[in-house]
Amino acid sequence: MRFTFCAVLAVAVGLVNASPPTAMTEKGIYAGEHLPTFNQDMFIGIRYAQVPTGSLRFRPPQPLTKSWSGQKTAVNYGNSCYSSEPNTDNRFIKQSEDCLTLNIVRPSGYEGHKLPVGVWILQQSVEGGTPIVAVSINYRVGPLGFLASEEVQKEGSLNNGLKDQVAALIWIKQNIEAFNGDSNQITIWGESAGGESVSMLMLAYGGKLETLFHRAIMESGFATTQQYHPISHWQEKYVIITKLAGCDKQSDTLNCLRQVDINKLVFITNIANERIKRQYAPTIDGDFILDWPKNLLQSGKFMKIPIISGANMDEGTSFGPGRVTNTDEVTDWLSTTYAGLNSSTVQKILTLYPDDPSKGSPFGTGDLYSGPIYGRQFKRGSAISGDIALIGPRRLTCEVWDEAGIDVYSYNWNQSDYGIPDFIGTTHFQEVVYVFDNPSTSFFQSGTAPMGPDPTGSKKSLAHLISRFFMSFIATGDPNNAKQNGTYPKWPKYSCKNPKNYYFREDDIRIEDDDWRKEAISFLNYGVDHQLLT
Ligand SMILES: *[C@@H]1O[C@H](CO)[C@@H](O)[C@H](O)[C@H]1NC(C)=O
Ligand SMILES: *[C@@H]1O[C@H](CO)[C@@H](O)[C@H](O)[C@H]1NC(C)=O
Ligand SMILES: *[C@@H]1O[C@H](CO)[C@@H](O)[C@H](O)[C@H]1NC(C)=O
Repeated sequence: MRFTFCAVLAVAVGLVNASPPTAMTEKGIYAGEHLPTFNQDMFIGIRYAQVPTGSLRFRPPQPLTKSWSGQKTAVNYGNSCYSSEPNTDNRFIKQSEDCLTLNIVRPSGYEGHKLPVGVWILQQSVEGGTPIVAVSINYRVGPLGFLASEEVQKEGSLNNGLKDQVAALIWIKQNIEAFNGDSNQITIWGESAGGESVSMLMLAYGGKLETLFHRAIMESGFATTQQYHPISHWQEKYVIITKLAGCDKQSDTLNCLRQVDINKLVFITNIANERIKRQYAPTIDGDFILDWPKNLLQSGKFMKIPIISGANMDEGTSFGPGRVTNTDEVTDWLSTTYAGLNSSTVQKILTLYPDDPSKGSPFGTGDLYSGPIYGRQFKRGSAISGDIALIGPRRLTCEVWDEAGIDVYSYNWNQSDYGIPDFIGTTHFQEVVYVFDNPSTSFFQSGTAPMGPDPTGSKKSLAHLISRFFMSFIATGDPNNAKQNGTYPKWPKYSCKNPKNYYFREDDIRIEDDDWRKEAISFLNYGVDHQLLT
């Protein structure tokens, strides 16, 4: 299971030349830009760690050392980190190894205040109604962030992409008050790989990042979403990479890889060889990731902070087998994708998710989308996939949090973006424009309008509602403290005794029982050991 690092939302900026807003960080003064349209100040492309090139390539991030006098401008976005394949969303942006930067947007006119801080782990900009300081961070992905091998392990350089996130959070902790932010009210927040990251940061070193952040929001991404492979799995890729790079004859192959021209290295790891492309992911290193995430969760080794934990109705239509027509094909897909499953577990899963299109995903659509065009068992495979990767982990997270007596709010999102075909249902990423309350019809270089060319009242209201819930959670740890435009049910805390989700869909906003597919999801969460993650 793998997630790409998703689309970029951009905020239109108007240039003004009047004296720019400034902020004094530990190392020097930054001059940003005032955005009159939003009455906000923006400081973007701020470096939070040393440039990880040369001897620092494939090494954990190193803190900044140099100070400056005078003002440095922070008005241009930094580079994107190299993605793990050529055609992901960051193809529109210049990619470089010099990418460890973050962006800050604050409301204007709050000098001397300490506002709550929301940190979005993906590279995006935020606009919101409640005064908060919004930060977005970059981190190394693909092989530059997650190369793994015995050599890398020996040196303590596994999981550098996650360590970048920690370096950014340390910078934020030390500097955010200069931007009118409160260093004791920081919420980390992400979707997909960003949600996984948020979840893993709460487990990092067994839950030891205690003072770095105080609340967390996970949208469709959890530590138990990702598959974790042993070093031996990665070693095979490492050997291919060193060979293609001409480093295999060197005594120190890793050092040799540090000297390879970056374009050559990116070509090798992204394009040249099918077996080393894509799928770079965190590794259980006995340090940053101490143990299987499920073990860490179940043994209480995580940060005890309030969370929002949500997933979409039909996540699996994006990650499942696609068109499958019979049980053999579903079986093949399941036992190949989750190679650690033994055959009796595969059989058990197939029993729990029967060959009945009316029970498959897109859920709640009866017998639609099965048959010759989509494949008789497309919905079955999609249901299994979504529950394994995201919906099961969403529920597991809620249960673990409630059992530890910590506040957790759960949602089930069922609003598709405009133009998504009906047979895909409410798949991955559909909620993102809504939580940012962004009805824009002119998205950055993509020409798409996720809420439609002319967002209707009910779509706007839905966006307004969820974004205010999130802002309230960031500001207070409870989504229910924002003034809403209209009367909506209060968002109840999740409890194992009486589990509830907020169910979001235009014209259908309500609280639902989180009791559906109980036996099946419970088996995936508690009846299968680590086989789903290997
Ligand atoms: C989700 O929403 C779709 C319409 O967008 C609807 O057809 C379907 O029944 C809903 N699913 C459930 C389980 O409520
Ligand atoms: C707020 O409520 C009013 C009255 O119901 C409605 O006209 C307006 O569109 C709503 N605004 C948003 C952003 O939901
Ligand atoms: C298959 O895996 C399950 C779940 O971990 C385990 O309980 C069972 O003993 C295994 N069965 C076989 C035949 O190995």
